[in-house]
Amino acid sequence: MKGIILAGGSGSRLYPVSQAYSKQLIMIYDKPMIYYPFSVLMLAGIKEALIISNEETLPYYRKLFGDGSQLGMSISYALQEEPRGIADAFLVGENFIGKDSVTLILGDNIFYGKLDFIRKAIQGNEGGTVFGYYVNDPERYGVVEFNASGKVISIEEKPKRPKSNYAVVGLYIYDRTVSEKARSLQPSARGELEITDLNNLYLKEKRLKVELFGRGIAWLDTGTPRSLLEAATFIGAVENRQGLKIACIEEIAYMMNFIDRKMFKEIIDSMPLSSYREYLNKIYRDKQLYNRYQD
Ligand code: G1P
Repeated sequence: MKGIILAGGSGSRLYPVSQAYSKQLIMIYDKPMIYYPFSVLMLAGIKEALIISNEETLPYYRKLFGDGSQLGMSISYALQEEPRGIADAFLVGENFIGKDSVTLILGDNIFYGKLDFIRKAIQGNEGGTVFGYYVNDPERYGVVEFNASGKVISIEEKPKRPKSNYAVVGLYIYDRTVSEKARSLQPSARGELEITDLNNLYLKEKRLKVELFGRGIAWLDTGTPRSLLEAATFIGAVENRQGLKIACIEEIAYMMNFIDRKMFKEIIDSMPLSSYREYLNKIYRDKQLYNRYQD
């Protein structure tokens, strides 16, 4: 299973910062936004990932993640020349995907909670798997329509009159036919290859699974100044209470055994003096925490 992080888009709802800066690099409390979806792929056990972004921003991601070997991963990069939609990731990433299946996560989606169901969904995926989450404002998203017996009959992109409160989150699992399917899509009215159209192709073939997130999972929005503030406050509250970080990629690489103790120490020692480094040293010393993670 390979992973793709799509960190494109214009981020225009965050204007004026969007003129100069990529949304997915904005700090959410104590680390760049992209760390959160990146860590979700890691927690799903994915070690080989492609980051897709535009020309100006790709160098920043390279600086942040390099070739991934320090995290026991392999990270590559690809250019999306224009924001042509989410499904375009499977055309840009076609060679990377090869004959594998792939999990795509959007670079601005933050998930928090017990996420081991993602790993299970990956193992059980046949065609495609997407996830629905109950929200207050479904009209902003892809929305799942169920029939009277609870079966999914369609997904609608940003419907004026949503047929349910279940929004499709920015995490998608597909089989090896995904690029071929993406190639058959036509751009929508907003000029994009819509992920919702791709999902409906799988649905038509009866090969789309829609799993619903439980109430214990937080899916946070980062699309507006207000939701950014709320996400940062949420992350800050949980981190301060526990003294443990969310989406700390070096810690996760260590806990998931992507890297050994020696490599973990090497990364820590290469960091500038900072609270981030102090935190990782604390994790390094806390063997109990490590042992419990392995249980
Ligand atoms: C996109 C998708 C939408 C999905 C959402 C999740 O919306 O088109 O179906 O629910 O991501 O974040 P967009 O970011 O293009 O508004």
